[in-house]
Amino acid sequence: MNASDADQSSQRQALLAAVCAAPKAELHVHIEGTLEPELAFELARRNGVALRWASSEQLRAAYAFGDLQSFLDLYYAGCDVLRTTQDFDDLAWAYFQRAATDGVVRAEVFFDPQSHTARGVGFEVFMPGLVRAAARAEAELGLSVAYILSVLRHLSEDAGMATLQAARPWREHFIGLGLDSSERGNPPAKFTRLYALARAQGLRRVAHAGEEGPAAYVRDALDLLGAERIDHGVRADDDQALVQRLARDGVALTVCPLSNVKLCVVPDMAAHNLPSLLHAGVKVMVNSDDPAYFGGYVNANYTAVLQAVPGLSTADAYRLLRNSLQASFASAEQIATWTVQLDAHWRARGLDAAKA
Ligand code: HPA
Ligand code: ZN
Repeated sequence: MNASDADQSSQRQALLAAVCAAPKAELHVHIEGTLEPELAFELARRNGVALRWASSEQLRAAYAFGDLQSFLDLYYAGCDVLRTTQDFDDLAWAYFQRAATDGVVRAEVFFDPQSHTARGVGFEVFMPGLVRAAARAEAELGLSVAYILSVLRHLSEDAGMATLQAARPWREHFIGLGLDSSERGNPPAKFTRLYALARAQGLRRVAHAGEEGPAAYVRDALDLLGAERIDHGVRADDDQALVQRLARDGVALTVCPLSNVKLCVVPDMAAHNLPSLLHAGVKVMVNSDDPAYFGGYVNANYTAVLQAVPGLSTADAYRLLRNSLQASFASAEQIATWTVQLDAHWRARGLDAAKA
């Protein structure tokens, strides 16, 4: 390594350290996807549930996915160990502790009711656990938490409507509606009545789109569902008119780099289109999606991207962090406060928000 290479490498390390310690929001994480193999085994033992794998190491070794569906099969199987209110409390508390360590000040967290109600585990079981962990995170970690109820798109719209109906008594404990699970063949058009109902109930609306599905699903999520934010959305890049629209209208894409590599949505991290979307003016940021399955929490995702894509500048890194705060559903005052904190953090590290 010559002197200038060494210089560049130490600058990169300093930037990574600054990003990891920076205040940030995580806007795309599934609580069921934070189930680490060790906790899965502990809960299986606690609840007398048999697992297909002999050890947490064997389970982790099974995390080699060819596509979204191969991951989802394992993810739904993992949910089976979640049986009691305490299980959901333990699961969420473990995530909040990790998030706080990563500098997360705001977490908007998906939960999948149908993955539990289908197994006879009802709202009265999982909601008190999720609510308790969130209250503790707010009190002990200073984290701002909001839950987003997510409906499984491989099931019918009527099943989604019934889920939203069953959630009515818990309405104060979630802020929005999301749509996840197998994307191909389950287009946004399938859920127009559900999203109209969510709008009528005053819920914020987001939807997974353009992960494995085409750019047209991103467009339809906006036009047919009134989605305010798109989860993943990376395939929007196939349609430059759509990219321009996202940039013009300030529609955020909650991008999950490690997830995209693990599920073969992109060939490798160096080929990820996060930089091109960012440079096209789209409000993108970095999230973990299902961190227990994809190899890391939010800072691991920032680190992986910044290490693989040397073209991402200091100003780009700042923009990703700022976008995360700005795209959250927190109050404008709260977002302004966090943004001031981010700016102070950036300046204290001798970094210039505007400079490459
Ligand atoms: N895509 C679709 N469904 C999901 C995901 C995802 O990345 N994670 C959990 N459910
Ligand atoms: Zn997701």
